Amino acid sequence: YGTQTINEQGHLIIGGADSVELAKTYGTPLFVYDIQLFRERAKAFQQTFEQAEIGYQVAYASKAFSTVAIYQVAAEENLSLDVVSAGELYTAVQAGFPVEKIHFHGNNKSIEELQMAFEVGIGCIVVDNFHEIELVKKLAEQLEQPMNILLRVTPGIEAHTHDYITTGQEDSKFGFDLKNGQADRAFQQTYTHDYLKVMGLHCHIGSQIFDTGAFQLAAEKLIQKMAGWKKEVGYVCTVLNLGGGFGIRYTREDKPLEPAVYVEQMIETVKQATKISGYPIPEIWIEPGRSLIGDAGTTLYTIGSIKEIPDTKKYAAVDGGMSDNIRPALYGAKYSSLVANKANAEVTEQYTIAGKCCESGDKLIEHAELTAVEAGDLLSVFCTGAYGYSMASNYNRIARPAVIFVEDGVPQLVVKRETNEDLVKQDLPYSRKAVKK
Ligand code: LLP
Repeated sequence: YGTQTINEQGHLIIGGADSVELAKTYGTPLFVYDIQLFRERAKAFQQTFEQAEIGYQVAYASKAFSTVAIYQVAAEENLSLDVVSAGELYTAVQAGFPVEKIHFHGNNKSIEELQMAFEVGIGCIVVDNFHEIELVKKLAEQLEQPMNILLRVTPGIEAHTHDYITTGQEDSKFGFDLKNGQADRAFQQTYTHDYLKVMGLHCHIGSQIFDTGAFQLAAEKLIQKMAGWKKEVGYVCTVLNLGGGFGIRYTREDKPLEPAVYVEQMIETVKQATKISGYPIPEIWIEPGRSLIGDAGTTLYTIGSIKEIPDTKKYAAVDGGMSDNIRPALYGAKYSSLVANKANAEVTEQYTIAGKCCESGDKLIEHAELTAVEAGDLLSVFCTGAYGYSMASNYNRIARPAVIFVEDGVPQLVVKRETNEDLVKQDLPYSRKAVKK
């Protein structure tokens, strides 16, 4: 998982740094990111487009992990950025991310959020619905400011890991349907507008997808739609955004393709579909989140209590849990782990790795195959880089972990560990006296 190694003391090494030392210095739970790996993943996507000599943007879907530091690295790697809220946009602007490469997503952007997008001069707004068309038009007219838009559509394809289904009826809170003419109406309402520039279409068909078929089908459908508009009114869209969703390897059972393969197949399909319809090849944009940052992240926990259910199982509890990784509880997500301070020791036991939250369902891993553990051991859980920290909460008033980036063996703190003082920062006292007045 990622690029970890083991040193002669049997310690897990992440990005060249000794995990035992990291835990000592920064405490646990700790998110450790191997930033070199993030850079490599970005380059793999970009190089595939470049080799095919096709216009592209690779936008990091920052909902997977959004902090000032990762936005800085994303900018260094010439990535574009997908943001979905004022908070993500604000963080990106704080990080100095080039605004013209930011794309704004979301199915219910507020007028304030859209205004912020205009004010910072965002690269494009991915318009999701008719209400938003009105808001964007109003702002563009008031501010007399042009804005690039993509229209998000639901192509009627749902992809889940291994397979996908084509649904005749689209049921999604996102986007304009293709089937009942919503996309056509959205196009008609925008393409002649004085300030709006319809760059093209967007779709996102799911997450943790392992095969390329669903992306190919989506590309075909969207190109057909764009070719239809060209025929009807002579308008040519220049961008086809196929979203994210490329799968990664959380456990041995997962067998995703190399990132480049998804892109190669997409390019091939776009070339064929445009040839058939006589349409100029558009730029292809993608929005990987998990496949850029997922396996770059490892969580380090300290093991505490160990409990045996006679003849049944053993629980080993860690000092974090669903408060820093909600995915097992929420989706039944599976992870792999290793005892990081005894990384070479023989695997002899099976544990259920429990968190410390007051919920029976707070289990990070069932059937973790590990060497025998005791209190004080360090557990590494792999591939927690995406949707771990970004979905973390203060449930049970547990402070959020620290985050460090490691590159060439050098660790840097990029998000401080929350403190108990942080937890009460927003709280105000309640006064019964004020009510009586
Ligand atoms: N683009 C759009 C419009 C999206 O909605 C998403 C993810 C992505 C790109 C990036 O998808 P990725 O490449 O990371 O799969 N919290 C869930 C995943 C929800 C993803 C939502 N949208 C999880 O932990 O698995």
